[in-house]
Amino acid sequence: MAKIIGETILQVENLQTELHTNIGVQRPVDGVSLSLRQGETLGIVGESGCGKSMTALSILGVVPKPAAQVVGGRVMFNGQDLRTFSEQQMRRIRGGSISMVLQDPQTSLNPVYTIGGQVTEAIALHRDVPRRSLMSHAIDALRQVRVAAPEQRVKDYPHQMSGGMKQRVSGAIAISCDPHVLIADEPTTALDVTIQSQYLRLLREIQEKTGLSIIFITHDFGIIANMCDTVAVMYAGRVVESGPVRAIFDEPRHPYTRALLNSVPTMDRHVKRLYSIPGQPPALWDRPAGCWYRNRCPFAEPRCETQYPPAIAAKNTAGSNHVANCWKLEDSTWITPKS
Ligand SMILES: Nc1ncnc2c1ncn2[C@@H]1O[C@H](COP(=O)(O)OP(=O)(O)OP(=O)(O)O)[C@@H](O)[C@H]1O
Ligand SMILES: [Mg+2]
Repeated sequence: MAKIIGETILQVENLQTELHTNIGVQRPVDGVSLSLRQGETLGIVGESGCGKSMTALSILGVVPKPAAQVVGGRVMFNGQDLRTFSEQQMRRIRGGSISMVLQDPQTSLNPVYTIGGQVTEAIALHRDVPRRSLMSHAIDALRQVRVAAPEQRVKDYPHQMSGGMKQRVSGAIAISCDPHVLIADEPTTALDVTIQSQYLRLLREIQEKTGLSIIFITHDFGIIANMCDTVAVMYAGRVVESGPVRAIFDEPRHPYTRALLNSVPTMDRHVKRLYSIPGQPPALWDRPAGCWYRNRCPFAEPRCETQYPPAIAAKNTAGSNHVANCWKLEDSTWITPKS
């Protein structure tokens, strides 16, 4: 069955989240814009600490309180701004229309309830299923994510399961309520490669059947290449490049995107030493004037020191909607050279 991509279902515009710490107020999410269409998979990539998880939590309004607070922007879902929703309305959205698999499955499962209890609770909250058939739905959901002997496993508590099993249970809870949008934050990091590919195939099958839209947060460019239609590259709390997956891989415009791609080890290239991006991302409280990547950028010019680059459209062969925040794009033929 072919994938059908529809209208925009989720549009994040200039999202900003503040974090109050003992060294002052910081912005881990500082003007993030993203767009997701029905049936589409959007990948979010970027180095550790660049704000991927915080962006996901901000979309759903579940940032760690009281330290963090979403302070600006819009989260348009089916034409309504979720930032104007009451807590009660948001509770219906979370897990129902938009569900999330958290990066750390240890924190998303409750240690004092059985697995069966937690999956059935999610189904009872969001789906119209008779009470007596809740458990069989829960067992089906666990079977879907390849948990072995789910009839037995529903009686287990989270501490009786391995990290990979817990991650799959979190996945089962997230998809058991037939969401329209699934935000999956590194959902396969604790899974071995066989289970990982089964899990990713399952997500694709569900997507083809139901038109599910997915935001996939990952460090793994292999997963991005396999799963995603579009990609947003984040750096220091902002999206610096976004576009169709082929364009990002074949014609990256932002030097940071190329550097990330270069840090992926490949079998067909003989290298003496694995490449890693020199330098560190700027601290949230100490971003340089101008482009935030300029201190690490081999192509930096004087203008990069004074003004943060706007999003400039890339003219390319792989389709539209490819933009990058880099002054170099003023030259419409610019593609970051391979080093
Ligand atoms: N609960 C918290 N309290 C204080 N600071 C936090 C908290 N959660 C995240 N941060 C800070 O917010 C910034 C963004 O973190 P976030 O977790 O979104 O990064 P990430 O891109 O998901 O990284 P990773 O790839 O390691 O998961 C980081 O600087 C981090 O230190
Ligand atoms: Mg994260």
